[in-house]
Amino acid sequence: MSSSNIKKKYFSKINEIKKHNQHYFEKNNPKISDSEYDKLKNQIFELEKKYTFLKSKDSPSNTIGFRPSKNFLKSNHRIPMLSLSNAFDLEDLNNFEKKIFNFLNLDKGTKLEYSVEPKIDGISASLTYKNGELTKGLSRGNGYEGELITENLKTILDIPSKLKGNNFPEDIDIRGEVFIENKDFQKIKENFANPRNAASGSLRQKNPSETKKIPLKFIAYTFGFIKNFKIIKQSEFLEFLKEWGFKTSKFNKIIEGTNNLQKNHIEFEKIRYDLDYDVDGLVYKINDFKLQDRLGFVANAPRWAIAHKFSADSSFSEILDIDVQVGRTGALTPVAKIKPVNIGGVVVSNATLHNEDEIIRKDIRIGDAVKVERAGDVIPHVLSVDISKRTNYSKKYIFPEKCPSCGSKIVKEFNLITKKYDAVKRCPSEGFKCQKIAIEKIKHFVSKDALNIEGLGKKVVEKFWELKLIKLPQDIFSLDYKKIESLDGWGKLSVANLKFAIENAKKISMEKFIYSLGIRHIGQENSKLLSKYFKSAKKFVEINEGFNFNNLLNIDGMGDTQVNSLKRFFADRTNNLVVNKLNEYLDVSNQQNIKTGKFQNKTFMITGKLEGISRAEAKSLIEKNAGRFVSNVSKKLNYLIIGQNPTSKKVKKAKELKIQVIDQDKWQKLLN
Ligand code: IVH
Repeated sequence: MSSSNIKKKYFSKINEIKKHNQHYFEKNNPKISDSEYDKLKNQIFELEKKYTFLKSKDSPSNTIGFRPSKNFLKSNHRIPMLSLSNAFDLEDLNNFEKKIFNFLNLDKGTKLEYSVEPKIDGISASLTYKNGELTKGLSRGNGYEGELITENLKTILDIPSKLKGNNFPEDIDIRGEVFIENKDFQKIKENFANPRNAASGSLRQKNPSETKKIPLKFIAYTFGFIKNFKIIKQSEFLEFLKEWGFKTSKFNKIIEGTNNLQKNHIEFEKIRYDLDYDVDGLVYKINDFKLQDRLGFVANAPRWAIAHKFSADSSFSEILDIDVQVGRTGALTPVAKIKPVNIGGVVVSNATLHNEDEIIRKDIRIGDAVKVERAGDVIPHVLSVDISKRTNYSKKYIFPEKCPSCGSKIVKEFNLITKKYDAVKRCPSEGFKCQKIAIEKIKHFVSKDALNIEGLGKKVVEKFWELKLIKLPQDIFSLDYKKIESLDGWGKLSVANLKFAIENAKKISMEKFIYSLGIRHIGQENSKLLSKYFKSAKKFVEINEGFNFNNLLNIDGMGDTQVNSLKRFFADRTNNLVVNKLNEYLDVSNQQNIKTGKFQNKTFMITGKLEGISRAEAKSLIEKNAGRFVSNVSKKLNYLIIGQNPTSKKVKKAKELKIQVIDQDKWQKLLN
């Protein structure tokens, strides 16, 4: 081969790998399997070895592998890795603190101490140390199950393989953030959209020696599981981390009161960009572990912590058109197609307009010059219009009267709680009649917090739908794999992976099963309540057979909105078919009363005000001791606890039903 032909061959392969890197990292939509990628990489290496004159800055020998493996083994977190709720301003902070005061029934004058820590925008990891030795490292994964990336984590210099000193728990999961500094990101930025992706990509290399090539950093900030070790404050724990050989943030501090938190936030925001890594906010944690413990969790986030986000990046663009997207619950969201613009390192070409009222309020028209804002992982939105730039060509947007997908007449719902009509317009179609809703339901069904099927991302679901491979959720369990294998971008390996992921997803907890159905107003928390109530999937699936839906109103946390939504859902034939079929395909584990405690199988209700303890905390204490809290006096109630000014009707009814009526003292005696 002539040298020019060799070069030609070489550069065509370089271009090919460049293209695949883009598909993989930027579009998150790989076109070839891992092994095909490795083959291509090796061909390039071979050529370079043989013909030493071949050189390219895009060669994988310079840019290293950069292809994270999707095939790590999974392992459960002993304590889930949950997320944080967000606050954006002082009002959010005050609300956060108010809830804590109410829950803990604190005096107005009480000063709460917060541990304040920068929220580094990286990838969280959990490290298990047994007798001081690093034995296991997991990525966050879906919060309950992570990827086993021990060897990769071990290559990070900030992660000690042995804890220093001798004053540490015999078994502990230490958690923190893996990230890359901006100066290091600059060297490899061609391959990644942002530093966070770069950290995630290099951490998840199949070959740990590839991870080692990138200087990843680690900052520790919390723990999951811990065995027999007395620590009373978060600030004390952060000191221990240093003693054990970890890096912690030098910006960690203790602050009292929300006004001071706000002041500190303003100061920190000024120096935010002086740091050599991305920080997207500050995390506030109640410093006292005893209080943290009392406060506990709600759904996926602790009551005792919050992330105070920094204000967003923004930029200017032009509205080219307005589209309406149909969501899983039928909500119609107007989305502006804008002239692509780089906002804080990410190219944005869509920005939400929220709803029709917002379009009217901000007087947004097609053709307008607009300011667009993007904050972290939140969807970018149109902030305002620059009226001075408006031309005669700008066009008012008329919101459709009918669903753009199925043609149903659009409705506005009346909210039972706020007693107002919603701002959101909806397609009222139930079940799977509206195509767009159906696709969104399937996306929800396979999503992280539901069946969590890796390899079935949003784009893949859309593709499969288009090709009529899936129409209803259960179709996922009878896919035509031969056909999929022949599709562009698919191969034997990726099909085998998909099959494996789907098989794996069949074993599922009852609460996830209920959640996966995507019933409106039935989120993770309500799914948990329902699964506790019904106990077996069979009972839930047979809900239409003589069950009185109003019984569900006895469950504390369920209201008319939820119960009406369930009625509506089960009144639809297709929904029933789907639920039945899914119950056949899936191996839904029954909700067991795994919890044991003093109050096992006992139900409680409170009437009147308790002294020194909030109702929410009393409820949480009952549940911690395996009891159940109900909101109705019925034969199923075991104890009615009376506080000050009880409702006499409830007490009377309880006495009639021969239910034990006890006062707060008696209840607390039962507890201790
Ligand atoms: S504490 C339940 N502390 O933020 C407690 N998280 O949205 C949650 N993060 O996945 C973890 N800095 O990746 C905590 N100082 C910090 C943090 C921090 C960053 C990330 C972490 C987590 C996410 C929660």
